[in-house]
Amino acid sequence: MSELRFDGRVAIVTGAGHGLGRSHALALAERGAKVVVNDLGGALDGSGASTGPAAEVVALITGNGGEAVASTDDVATPEGAKAIVRTAVDTFGRVDIVVNNAGILRDKSFGKMSVEEFDRVIAVHVRGSFLVSREAFPYLKEQGYGRIVNTSSPAGLFGNFGQANYSTAKMGLVGLTKTLGIEGARAGIKANAIAPVAWTRMTESLLPAEFEVKFTSERVSALVAFLSHETCETSGEVFSVGGGRIARVFVAEGPGWKKDDHTVEDIRDNWEAVMAEQPYLTPTTLGLQASASMKAML
Ligand code: NAI
Repeated sequence: MSELRFDGRVAIVTGAGHGLGRSHALALAERGAKVVVNDLGGALDGSGASTGPAAEVVALITGNGGEAVASTDDVATPEGAKAIVRTAVDTFGRVDIVVNNAGILRDKSFGKMSVEEFDRVIAVHVRGSFLVSREAFPYLKEQGYGRIVNTSSPAGLFGNFGQANYSTAKMGLVGLTKTLGIEGARAGIKANAIAPVAWTRMTESLLPAEFEVKFTSERVSALVAFLSHETCETSGEVFSVGGGRIARVFVAEGPGWKKDDHTVEDIRDNWEAVMAEQPYLTPTTLGLQASASMKAML
């Protein structure tokens, strides 16, 4: 089988100075993509800034014979997002792939979480992914081709103690991905999301020590590269990925229970049927979900 290459393609990877983003940037560059290595260079909670991490990754890529340019712009501001996409277009003449990976943590139990802790996490993950994709979108649309990979998390898909801000952001990215998949379809733009597990500075104090060897960032980057490739026709999907395992995560709706004019007591008495999972539906648009539930009501 032929190798999947990205020659002639230009990729933006946000938050590429450390961890997963760094690994995604290296993987895409190794296969021929020209890469905008974006990273604000701050701490895990998003405080501070440094030009070092992005510059180091660019040096690694160019040292290996690849092409890359650094960007230290903040994904969470409209000006920052504009500058990131401008860097791609000014330096390499185009943009084909956007990997929205930049992220921060501000964990706190729900009762103690401040508005600022909530807002900043939403801003980097959700607003940042929206803004960078939005700046790139006209270019992708114009050329009739593009790939967007967003970074969700099992914490968002399934919930996690102390991460109300982060979980909200990461599930928000699922909605963004699904709608981008729908809106990009006619222009050949595919959008997908990953929910990774990898040993990085974000997780090293949380994961068991044995994860360091098995849950490498490289094992996540292979999926990011596949989802970024022109041969990948999948769109609007979410994938759990880590340690060598990849699984589709889907939003499903159970068969449901119905009774016209039901009372509160009817609902109590039929709760088991409301909660039933099988047989489930996996509609890929609101329209499909609506028509499936209309059909079930007839
Ligand atoms: P990391 O902390 O090593 O990398 C995140 C990078 O984003 C950092 O280099 C940071 O400087 C950069 N960044 C933060 N705010 C930024 C901003 N406003 N603009 C530009 N860059 C910014 O963490 P890791 O683990 O590599 O995380 C990457 C992504 O994967 C994040 O979105 C994270 O939430 C997600 N994720 C990671 C998991 C894991 O197991 N490591 C699990 C689930 C999700």
